Parts: sequence; structure tokens; C-alpha cells
Amino acid sequence: MAEGVVIAIAGAKGGVGKTTTAVNLGVALAQAGERVAVLEFDLAMANIVDFLDIEPTQTMHTVLSGTASVTDAVHRLDSGVDILPAGTALEDFNAVNVATIAPVVRTLKPSYDFVILDTAAGVSPETIYPLRLADEVLVVSTPRVAAVRDTKKTIALAERVNGTVAGVIFNRCGTGHAPPPERLAAFLETDLVGAVPNDSAVPEAQDRGEPVVTYRPKSDAATEFFSIADSLIFSHQSTDANTPGAIGTGGIGDLTNAEQIADAAEAADPGDTALKTDDDPDDGFQFVTDS
Ligand SMILES: Nc1ncnc2c1ncn2[C@@H]1O[C@H](COP(=O)(O)OP(=O)(O)OP(=O)(O)O)[C@@H](O)[C@H]1O
Ligand SMILES: [Mg+2]
Repeated sequence: MAEGVVIAIAGAKGGVGKTTTAVNLGVALAQAGERVAVLEFDLAMANIVDFLDIEPTQTMHTVLSGTASVTDAVHRLDSGVDILPAGTALEDFNAVNVATIAPVVRTLKPSYDFVILDTAAGVSPETIYPLRLADEVLVVSTPRVAAVRDTKKTIALAERVNGTVAGVIFNRCGTGHAPPPERLAAFLETDLVGAVPNDSAVPEAQDRGEPVVTYRPKSDAATEFFSIADSLIFSHQSTDANTPGAIGTGGIGDLTNAEQIADAAEAADPGDTALKTDDDPDDGFQFVTDS
């Protein structure tokens, strides 16, 4: 059987909705009959356990520190998705060996149609390794100017570490005077994969420890997550994303210097001439492209 496609959900900016997207896409894909694993690689600020109201003993941390097997730490939810959550204790973080991230992903890939990697904000090695390992990267951003600017860097970073950027998902759309998602995607020179509205059902679901796609499946946000999941299934059934060797082609040793990589992303910053804002404090801004 063909190996699954590994998709990293990335976004250098914190709080834009990476984990929300990873979990809800995972569940939406599972409900469509796909075999899906969601792996949490936000190792310092883990929170999938809160999103899903689970209390695992074995986690990504115990796996990456060599005290648990991958299968011990995979938790099947009622919705059919498998979750490998990170642990929340700070002492667990110290024991982690990030060099074992690649074997974890490689171990799971043959058993699933989609392996979704939830990544951390920023450009630390724990973020960069998953980008390197993914067959493709989906970048999540809010439609705000500051976030879009950081998203430009995230895309540059993903391309620099050999990830294929499949496109951008704008999250929390429909507030203020943000430019249309299509225009922002064009500015980022990437495909628009989805535009998830700002929807109070999302935090409500999170408070109940459930993804919005099961808590309020007909909500605007859930509807868009289902639609994105459908388009992922469609795009992967007709393409050859499962090329053997696509994962870890250069091996973990290729990732020699995360700081250099981060510098390269910084250098790719479009700067203030490319994207300007007249932000006023409550959301409104002018979006201007010079090029
Ligand atoms: N579409 C949405 N509508 C309303 N609230 C949302 C939406 N998406 C996410 N949120 C809320 O935004 C907050 C941040 O979301 P989330 O934790 O998924 O972001 P993140 O990018 O993973 O953050 P971090 O960088 O800290 O890991 C959460 O409280 C979540 O409930
Ligand atoms: Mg997160």
C-alpha cells in the first residue's frame, strides 16, 4: 500500500490557529474515511491534550526521550483520528532528543493516508525538523498584515529547508477590514487552500475539549474545515505525492544549522515597502502592495 502524505501545518506567528487547523482537518479527513494521524510537535507549549480533553500517560515527549514506543503514545479518538500528543510537563521537554523526530514520522507514515504535523510558532529546531520532513507544508495565517508578513518568512523558511509549500489557509477571516484572502495569497505567491471564518463555535468547542467539526459540524468554521479536507483528498488521490523517499530525503543530518536557516528566512522578509499598514488599533488597515 502507498505511504501516506505528510503535511506540516506551519506558521511562525503564534496563536494564528495552527493547532485548531491540524486537529480539525485531521478529524474531518478521518470522518471522510481517510486514515489520519495528527502529531503534535509543539514540544514546549503543548496543548492538544486541552483541545481534545485527553490525559495520556505516553506522549510525543516520552517517545522522543526513548521511554515509550510510538504505538504506545498514539491515541485513537472516537472520531477515528489517531493523535500523538505532546506532553505538557516542562521536565519532559528537557529529555527530548529532536533527532528522533524523523524516525517517529517515518514509522507512522506507512500506516496512514495523511500524517499531519502540528508545529510550534517561531523558528526553533522543533519547528524546522517537521518542515524538513513533510512532503508538503500548509501555512496558516490570520489575514492581518503583521501575520501575513510573518507568513512570508514562514514560506521562505519552508522552501529553504526543502519543504514544498502547498498553500496558505487564512484563519479567523471576516473581521475588520482585512484584504480578501485571494489577494493576500497572491501577495504571498502561493495557493489559497482555505479561508476559515472567525467563529465563536471554535473556542466554544475548544472549551469543551472537542474539535469544532464534531462539536458544531454545521458551523461556518467547521464547514470550511470539511471543505479543505475534501480538497486535500481530491488533490492527493490524483497526484503522486506518495513518492517513496519523499520523506527525509537528505536524512536528519542535513539539518545542520537551524540558525542559518532562520537567518535566510529573515533575509527573505519583503520589508515595509512590499506590504504596508495604516493599522488603527481596532482592526482597520490599508493594504498596499508596491509590486
Ligand atoms: N476560526 C476561529 N475562530 C475563532 N477563534 C479561533 C479560530 N481559530 C482559532 N481560534 C482560537 O484562537 C486561539 C489560538 O488558536 P490555536 O491554538 O489553534 O493557534 P496556534 O497557531 O496553534 O497557537 P500557538 O502558536 O500558540 O501554538 C484559540 O483560542 C482558538 O480557539
Ligand atoms: Mg498550536
